[in-house]
Amino acid sequence: MNVTAYPTLAGLRHTGRLRARGKPWFPFSADAPGGWAFSGRVALYHGVRLLHLPTPSTILVPSYHEGVELDALIAAGYRIRYYRVDPGLRIDFGDVARNLDPDVSALYLTHYFGMPQPLTAAREFCDTHGLRLIEDCALALFGRTPDDAWLGSVGDLAIFSIYKTLPVPHGGYYVAPAALSTNGNGKLRPPPFKSTLVQSLDLVHHTLDAAGWSGIERAATRAAAAVKGALGWNRGTTVASGGPRWDARLVDYGVSAWTRQLVRFTDPELVVRRRRANYAQLAKSLRRETSVPFPDLPLGTCPLSLPIIVGERDRVHEQLAAQGIEAGKYWPVSHPTCPEDLAAEMSMWREHCLELPIHQELDKEDIDRVADAVLNALR
Ligand SMILES: Cc1ncc(COP(=O)(O)O)c(C=O)c1O
Repeated sequence: MNVTAYPTLAGLRHTGRLRARGKPWFPFSADAPGGWAFSGRVALYHGVRLLHLPTPSTILVPSYHEGVELDALIAAGYRIRYYRVDPGLRIDFGDVARNLDPDVSALYLTHYFGMPQPLTAAREFCDTHGLRLIEDCALALFGRTPDDAWLGSVGDLAIFSIYKTLPVPHGGYYVAPAALSTNGNGKLRPPPFKSTLVQSLDLVHHTLDAAGWSGIERAATRAAAAVKGALGWNRGTTVASGGPRWDARLVDYGVSAWTRQLVRFTDPELVVRRRRANYAQLAKSLRRETSVPFPDLPLGTCPLSLPIIVGERDRVHEQLAAQGIEAGKYWPVSHPTCPEDLAAEMSMWREHCLELPIHQELDKEDIDRVADAVLNALR
């Protein structure tokens, strides 16, 4: 059995049937006006335009970022200017204040690994200075603050990358106040069928891989390759979610009915419960042996992964891979527009952060396996 970085379709078996009980959770609930898009970056591209910020104007963005979210803001017509986040990845309001001038129209903040930024302070800061607040919840679906506010419910705009938390081929979502969403971007068209098909096959492939069904997996891999060949699929010519590069073709696309259907099979309560339990178990096993920057989960947090800081990251990553454990080395470089001094402050995270899987499909034994493998690699 392999431990994947992202959940697979196997996770849906835990819910067993369509969850008809109760109302959908935020952000999919009716009291949160918003909409689907092909992915988080597309949700951001359209969502930010719903805010009707002056163009050109400047959006303050954090020095620790993936990069593609900043490309989405630039593509939407805005300038960006960077503010510091501290070594614990918390927004530095002093530096945000130093960067204010009349061109600044919005503050962009990111809930890294699902950990909440101080939202009440951010809201107050924005209200005081007449700024819009944009919450990047790409890594924080189903998370809440310790005082029980949904991440994504405090900002004027929030965006989510659904496929990072749930097993779907693609999918982004945005939440904006009702007044903004009603005069919005209209309907985005569904993605091309072959994009959904091929990304779904990739998901099936991952599912079989995680289940250790190597014979079937090999057959599925051959079948997927045959379908890709027959469809003329290649990442360069057909739209796909994920990846660090901005692809302007994506902005036309919404979400497939298939993704929306899969999301309806999700039990959010179980997703949060399992992720929190897995995170706590793994953090406890590792905290004495390696640097765990967020050893304790704040109440309400739904973590994406467990970040650890390791000296020889590539070697540890490879050793885990050799044992069938997929860890993440994401966000290797700063956006080219980020000033060097600010970028340098983030080099520890970019070079040494390893994200360990704790998603909802993993159980106690899987987490023990991850912990043992990490401890062995570190010794
Ligand atoms: C912080 C952050 N925001 C936004 C995005 C864009 O999300 P998506 O990949 O769904 O377009 C990403 C993607 O990695 C991200 O890491």
